[in-house]
Amino acid sequence: MPDLIDAVLSGAAAGDLARCPVPGSYRAAHTRKADVTMFGAVADKDVRRSLHVGEVPMPDLAPDEVLVAVLAAAVNYNTVWSAMFEPVPTFDFLARQARRGGWAARHDLPYHVLGSDAAGVVVRAGAAVRRWSPGDKVVVHPACIDPEDPYSQSDAMFTEDPLAWGFETNFGSLADFAVAKASQLMPKPPHLTWEEAACSTLCASTSYRMLVSPRGAVMKQGDVVLIWGAVGGLGGYAVQLVRNGGGIPVGVVSSPAREELARALGCEAVINRESLGAGGLAGPKGWRRLGEEIRRQVGEDPHIVFEHSGQETFGASVYVARRGGTVVTCGSSTGYHHEYDNRHLWMKVKRIVGSHGATYQESWEVNRLLTLGMLVPVLSAVYPLDEVGEATRAVQQGRHAGKTGILCLAPREGLGIEDQAARDRIGEGRLRLFRGA
Ligand SMILES: NC(=O)c1ccc[n+]([C@@H]2O[C@H](COP(=O)([O-])OP(=O)(O)OC[C@H]3O[C@@H](n4cnc5c(N)ncnc54)[C@H](OP(=O)(O)O)[C@@H]3O)[C@@H](O)[C@H]2O)c1
Repeated sequence: MPDLIDAVLSGAAAGDLARCPVPGSYRAAHTRKADVTMFGAVADKDVRRSLHVGEVPMPDLAPDEVLVAVLAAAVNYNTVWSAMFEPVPTFDFLARQARRGGWAARHDLPYHVLGSDAAGVVVRAGAAVRRWSPGDKVVVHPACIDPEDPYSQSDAMFTEDPLAWGFETNFGSLADFAVAKASQLMPKPPHLTWEEAACSTLCASTSYRMLVSPRGAVMKQGDVVLIWGAVGGLGGYAVQLVRNGGGIPVGVVSSPAREELARALGCEAVINRESLGAGGLAGPKGWRRLGEEIRRQVGEDPHIVFEHSGQETFGASVYVARRGGTVVTCGSSTGYHHEYDNRHLWMKVKRIVGSHGATYQESWEVNRLLTLGMLVPVLSAVYPLDEVGEATRAVQQGRHAGKTGILCLAPREGLGIEDQAARDRIGEGRLRLFRGA
């Protein structure tokens, strides 16, 4: 009987894939429930200690699910949170999900297979799956939504319990196989390599909802948009989306090399936050310095501030947004408890908008932009799955730019391109802008 992995790697036809037996176990990056207290009060929670790569049992497939052979995946910041067991151990999410009963109970295990971005090949489809079948090359939208929740018909992020795949669910993408709902699948952009295709979905679709969606900041032509971490995972896509929509991206970064990269990506103005002087952004003096620098470079205040850094930047974000402007936030890397001067918010009628993830439809729009070459991946580095601890450590320490890719079943970089003409049209220079950064 042919081996399923060999069949995937040789590009076997759908029928052949379906005939290969599914292995009983597979290689996966995971955390262990037994480790959740391992860091105690240690300040530096080194994720290399809590991330393990080893064999785990293959789960059963629910009727609405697919089994994906993962060629490549990516590290997201949620991988860092999971491996630090902060702000809560993700095992709590798995236990809560299991209380729904039925197929959800499978997720509550003493190990958690992480990972929320993947590119791969469908190798099995459950009996209720209609649109996808073995052999389909796919990327995976990272939100698992309950279609029986009535709010899934308006905005999936309003459902009672939208779950982040491979963070709030088990069987994620940092592995040789992953389980996803059929309603998470999208066609892999054919001009991208596996690792390029795997690195965009979560961050690009989160940025899209924050900036473009009616639930986000609803950016319009000419808007000045201040983007924290302009060459980070979210920021690298935000800059491109602002440019695409006729806005004026103003990037904030932390080094001269990143200033250069931000400009090459499309930022019209760039601020190195390390150059803001003593005290940085803490308190009104720092906020004013930032505001003055934005005015000096672009002549006006931001219509939108793209926030995810949280505690250390939020006061400045609320301050620098223009009268009637919007601070849109999806995270708090530097701390959850934000302080800002509310007078700047109410007197100047600004808005703070919370945003989380994206709907399948928003992700689909983003996947279309990637397929058209209107968005390019911001992949900077690629590691093999066995070195996922080192890759995640680099993200934890902020040493990476853009996205960090992981080769799972793909034996090397550069594979998976099916449309070389599209690649040539978009240009290697744009597609590889972040490589080595
Ligand atoms: N809710 C959601 O759906 C969602 C989705 C994705 C991500 N997130 C969250 O959003 C946050 C960022 O995610 P990401 O993937 O973009 O992470 P990332 O790739 O690590 O990028 C974050 C960027 O923030 C900048 N930064 C770091 N410390 C900073 C500070 N003290 N002040 C200002 N900027 C700082 C860094 O750029 P410089 O050092 O160059 O300034 C870095 O490039 C994370 O907390 C993540 O959990 C939420």
